Amino acid sequence: MKKDNFKIAVFAGDGIGPEIIKEALKILKIISDKKKIKLQFKEGLVGGSAYDHFGVPLPDSSLKLALKSDAVLLGAVGGPKWESLDYSVRPERALLGLRSNLGIFANLRPVVAFDELLDASPLKKNIVRGIDIMIVRELTGDVYFGKPRGVKKGKDGKRRGVNTMVYTEDEIRRIAVRAFEIARTRKKNLLSVDKANILESTELWRDVVTEVGQSYPDITLKHMYVDNCALQLIRDPAQFDVIVTTNLFGDILSDEAAMLTGSIGMLPSASLGDKTALYEPIHGSAPDIAGKNIANPLATILSVALMLRYSLSLPREASLIEKAVGETLKAGFRTRDIFQKNKKLVGTEEMGDAVAKKLRKLIN
Ligand code: IPM
Ligand code: MG
Repeated sequence: MKKDNFKIAVFAGDGIGPEIIKEALKILKIISDKKKIKLQFKEGLVGGSAYDHFGVPLPDSSLKLALKSDAVLLGAVGGPKWESLDYSVRPERALLGLRSNLGIFANLRPVVAFDELLDASPLKKNIVRGIDIMIVRELTGDVYFGKPRGVKKGKDGKRRGVNTMVYTEDEIRRIAVRAFEIARTRKKNLLSVDKANILESTELWRDVVTEVGQSYPDITLKHMYVDNCALQLIRDPAQFDVIVTTNLFGDILSDEAAMLTGSIGMLPSASLGDKTALYEPIHGSAPDIAGKNIANPLATILSVALMLRYSLSLPREASLIEKAVGETLKAGFRTRDIFQKNKKLVGTEEMGDAVAKKLRKLIN
């Protein structure tokens, strides 16, 4: 029997987190009302707000809640208030702690240009029109977790900073398998991005991805160096279908790719492992605009669509949310970050309400 009862952990986090999560929950509520599925929401603290309360960015209670959930919805973490803290308790550590403890090694970042926002991109319209890229970023390895790491004083009294870029073949194999499977559901083109001309860890990456590719003869596999990929994303982004890459390169390339769509405020993400999954917008906590009802909730709402697709087995409803977002943009609604002349400037709440209204119509 199909599961119809899901536990969802909700971590609003810091900055604009609570405001955008509120709008995303409106959307989830519509789905649960219509579909008669039971969604049990449990809230927890992560990031700076957790540090203020518990002295750590990822308290045990929040980690346990996440581990017991079918899916986690997260807003954003961090802010100037916590910037001077030791690295070990910075809000961002909550993300790394969740990623490693939940084993969510595959980070999916779809980069889709909505026609209505083509003008908001700094690139020419003919370059960004129709782009539909899926970036599959490895999320639990690389310099983010490699050891040794840290800053130490050497014998000469001078400080030395070290991070270690490391990948095992098993780590590469499992992300490669995910990426090939995803490519199979799309245009069947997979590009693996590395720096194999200079970094041995990514020479191994290239070898293992190629090996995995032998089991996927229907997928066209190509390789590209990361510097060239950064260039190609601006020169001709329409050439890309699925991109699989390392943690650090994926972090950088996905921010770059986000700008193709006009605003980083538009990009959702899904982080998948073998058990639970985490959904969050790729933008940060934007402390400068927090609490003003001006943040763009669309990336978080689109993250909910990914949750329906990948964790709740509701692909039709996922597409309806994406459609509702498209129609809301078509109707002229814009938050400040994507505002254009002659459009309707709205706040966070109004944008959430507008999408909710469209969705209610579509879902009937
Ligand atoms: C991201 C962010 C994080 C990362 C930071 C906040 C730790 O930039 O999710 O892309 O580097 O992974
Ligand atoms: Mg990033």
